[in-house]
Amino acid sequence: MADKRVIVVGGGLAGLAATVRITESGLPVDLFSVVPVKRSHSVCAQGGINACNEVARQQGYSEYEHFDETIYGGDFLADQPPVFEMTHFAPKIIDLLDRMGVPFNRTPEGFRDLRLFGGSLYKRTHFAGATTGQQLLYALDEQVRRREDEGRVTKYEHWEFLRPIIEGQGDQARCVGIVAQDLRTMQIRAFRAEAVVMATGGCGLVFGKSTNSIVCTGAAAARCYRHGVWYANGEFIQVHPTAIPGADKCRLMSESARGEGGRVWVPRRQSDTRHPNDIPAGERWYFLEEKYPKYGNLVPRDIATREIFKVCMDGMGVGGGNQVYLDLTHLPASTLHKLDGILEIYSKFVGDDPHKVPMKIFPAVHYSMGGLWTRHVPKADHRGLEPGNPGQMMTNIGGLYAFGEVNFAYHGANRLGANALLSCIFDGLFCGQSVANFVRDNAPTGATPQALLDAAVADESARQDRLIRGPEGGGSDPNDNAYLIAREMGEEMTAASTVVKTAARLQQALTKIAALKARYARLRLDDTAMWTNQSLAFARATGDMLLLAESILLTGLARKESRGSHYREDFPDRNDADFLRTSVSKFDAAGGTHQLSYQEVDTALVKPRVRNYGKVESTAKSAAPARQPALT
Ligand code: FUM
Repeated sequence: MADKRVIVVGGGLAGLAATVRITESGLPVDLFSVVPVKRSHSVCAQGGINACNEVARQQGYSEYEHFDETIYGGDFLADQPPVFEMTHFAPKIIDLLDRMGVPFNRTPEGFRDLRLFGGSLYKRTHFAGATTGQQLLYALDEQVRRREDEGRVTKYEHWEFLRPIIEGQGDQARCVGIVAQDLRTMQIRAFRAEAVVMATGGCGLVFGKSTNSIVCTGAAAARCYRHGVWYANGEFIQVHPTAIPGADKCRLMSESARGEGGRVWVPRRQSDTRHPNDIPAGERWYFLEEKYPKYGNLVPRDIATREIFKVCMDGMGVGGGNQVYLDLTHLPASTLHKLDGILEIYSKFVGDDPHKVPMKIFPAVHYSMGGLWTRHVPKADHRGLEPGNPGQMMTNIGGLYAFGEVNFAYHGANRLGANALLSCIFDGLFCGQSVANFVRDNAPTGATPQALLDAAVADESARQDRLIRGPEGGGSDPNDNAYLIAREMGEEMTAASTVVKTAARLQQALTKIAALKARYARLRLDDTAMWTNQSLAFARATGDMLLLAESILLTGLARKESRGSHYREDFPDRNDADFLRTSVSKFDAAGGTHQLSYQEVDTALVKPRVRNYGKVESTAKSAAPARQPALT
């Protein structure tokens, strides 16, 4: 395999884990990241990573239980063999991370400590305070640095992925490299590889403000989609129940706050203006605990978010606004200490001390269950995946893989908290071997025609020139710019396509996106400098976000049912007969249209059942008039 190489795009957990695995198999890796890898969005992950361990097992938990919870949590939309494999592989991942030096919290006896998380009645979430993502990312970064030092990894930080280079068509299509741009010198160039792994995360910025970092535009996924890679289940967007709304973005207040005993409540009396600490327990409405006595504050995110949203819509939010209390003030110092990482964030951005005063929170866009479509190869009995099979998590394009959040595969219609870090690392470690095997056994031996690489670079240069020069024949509006377009897109997508959707509102949003696309087509950049031109990078991403937004709206409109995070007020029930299916969007570049089809879900192991988490009807009454909330 001497001169064969793999490109990994994305320096978060999925990308780093893939890099480690692929280099272990003897292949060199070119690792691309738009930011220094230690700044990848994985660094923001807070609460933990799920896996059964011996302590959990003693409570009656098992890998199978983790599998079943994940399938139920995802409202049965996930294909079951990949989830079975991931949940059964999870304990090995924790052992490996532990050996790499991740400072997991420990019990006084020295065992790895566990906390509760949403969608489970068992403690099975491993954690490092409330900065778990950071600790995991840094541990994997050290491994990658070692390989870099040994000459097995070449890092391209501050390089932006612009497109895959694809040779051949239909079933014969193969990815033979990428085009990328150095965001300092603005040089655009082609890189050849026998396989490419996309590990580029989610698309929170399509919704404007979210808990995501500003690099989470989804542009890399959209660029693959534009070039023929299928996109699956795009309509399933996770809105996290507990975030701090901010003028610039929303900041996550980890689910671990509730896992450690935090309670969500509002005053029972809508007009109650007392300081929260002066409201006695009997006059507080712990609505999640009341409606879901079994799971309480730890119902899965789709449910908690809808309940918080409804409380605010019914005029019962704190001060009549879009906020509820997340209260930790009753917890002992030793417990609060485990949450220091997020309590500091709250104090810094809100100014109140959450040790003493309940936090005010509201839901915010957090994660995309949908992503690039990938295949998998199950074992004969469907209890897991065939290890090392080159097909694991390969997109519809030969040699092009999708790992981590950009892969649609593991979470169905709703992701359980603390399963994201797991799916990222699982993809990298388990499916990284599939990439290496593909390169060894299947990658073509003939040289990639230089003309193909040159044409791809020329195409991207032309796209850039078009933004710099404006439309042919002029006609650009000097008062318009990509930031305005992106802001309007985000507001529209948040209002139309997050917690509650209807056909009419989705249609309205499609009209708005069409208008924004028309404005985008007339854009001309003010900043034309060819040195660290950040407006150019953002403007280019805005065009890609608009494409993704349109696809998300179309699949949301077509899914006439409610399932997991996708709640259609006009179709409030789950409809397995028609929609226990994966939605698959294919972009027709010639016509500029999206083609939607559906694929059967593999439910070989667990049959779909009613998903209500033991809900009982609430007795609380609101005297307040209903109002229309919006995620802010
Ligand atoms: O709430 C959290 O700590 C987030 C975890 C996750 O998204 O898995």
